[in-house]
Amino acid sequence: MNNNNFLDKNILLIDDSKTILMFLASVLKKEGYTNLHSALSAKKAYSILKNKKINLILLDVVMPDIDGVQACQSIRNTPETAHIPIIMVTGDDSDETLKKSFDAGADDFTTKPINFMNLNTRIKSVLSHKEKDLQILNQTRYTAMNDMIDTLAHQWRQPLAAISAAVLDIEIAYELDELTPENMKSHLKNINNYTQDLSKTIDEFRSLSKVESKAKEVNINKLLSYTMKIISSTYMSQNISLEVKEQTNLKPIFAYPNELVRVLLSFFQNTQEAFSKVNKDSKKTVQIKTRQDNFYTTISIKDNAGGISKENLLKVFDPYFSTKKEKNGKGLGLYSSKQAIEEHMGGKISIFSKNNTTEVMIQLKMSEQKRLQKEGI
Ligand SMILES: Nc1ncnc2c1ncn2[C@@H]1O[C@H](COP(=O)(O)OP(=O)(O)OP(=O)(O)O)[C@@H](O)[C@H]1O
Ligand SMILES: [Mg+2]
Repeated sequence: MNNNNFLDKNILLIDDSKTILMFLASVLKKEGYTNLHSALSAKKAYSILKNKKINLILLDVVMPDIDGVQACQSIRNTPETAHIPIIMVTGDDSDETLKKSFDAGADDFTTKPINFMNLNTRIKSVLSHKEKDLQILNQTRYTAMNDMIDTLAHQWRQPLAAISAAVLDIEIAYELDELTPENMKSHLKNINNYTQDLSKTIDEFRSLSKVESKAKEVNINKLLSYTMKIISSTYMSQNISLEVKEQTNLKPIFAYPNELVRVLLSFFQNTQEAFSKVNKDSKKTVQIKTRQDNFYTTISIKDNAGGISKENLLKVFDPYFSTKKEKNGKGLGLYSSKQAIEEHMGGKISIFSKNNTTEVMIQLKMSEQKRLQKEGI
């Protein structure tokens, strides 16, 4: 990637010193960066982030009121800003500050007095990593679309067969001179219902493939039922039973619903692919549970499809790690799910495997969101 492609990126500079802000802006301008924005406090930065699409943040650590580490955490925990790369800029290069910054979700770190060569290299490296992530994301969307088309084809099969059977019935009854008006009416009504079903599924799939620009309040149980409806016919045809245990009083969480459905579908797809390798006679079960505690809404999806070896378990979130040579697995499902949940929605994703089971767990926060909204993000 040509580094000059980054020069028009929106960079937000946050520092409580006007002199440092001016210095940073002037050196970056000299380097050719054209879209620079400055904020003297985290609060001011939050309001810029609300109104502007920012591609990179340079964030001072020591600031009054909300310091850089807290600001970094808030930005990471907010779905709309969670994906923005952050480079911490600080005079304090102690191990403790370094650890705190990375724990809060910073991508990189540079020290004051600012060495411009060093900063510029870091900016380009962070932006280029982001660009690569985006390319992988696009590739994943393409694979996810292919999987969805398979599911759609499966869902269409039954109503299409029913329409075709109704047409055949009409034809035979007509040829035998047995076609009564009631008979005709009833067939036409059924055909009409089936075509409406087909049109509804296609609309649902179209909206699912859309990339959303804003996070929304989501009812997790409803979203899960919707996702299960999509996979139910495929699961039924493969004798996979779904066991659902939902906690009823879940707090609404802030997320991107279509993206979340795509993530869940990729887990269900993995489970189904794992079952295709196990003994046909074994009982295939997927347990879906939701749970609420003070901090998190948790979704757990657990299958008994054989499990994952200890060695592979360490690699499943790596991009391009796949054990599915036969189906030409890209190895992007779990990687991009992690990006979506952790970087885009400020949540957590984990995977466990014991005996012959695999459990994927997603945790999403609402309470934090409310706190941030109060803070003004
Ligand atoms: N439920 C599961 N049971 C057993 N193994 C699993 C399960 N989920 C994931 N894995 C393992 O993790 C690997 C990575 O999964 P991931 O979804 O990232 O990629 P993939 O399914 O191989 O390819 P893609 O999703 O890009 O089509 C899989 O190849 C498989 O070995
Ligand atoms: Mg997969």
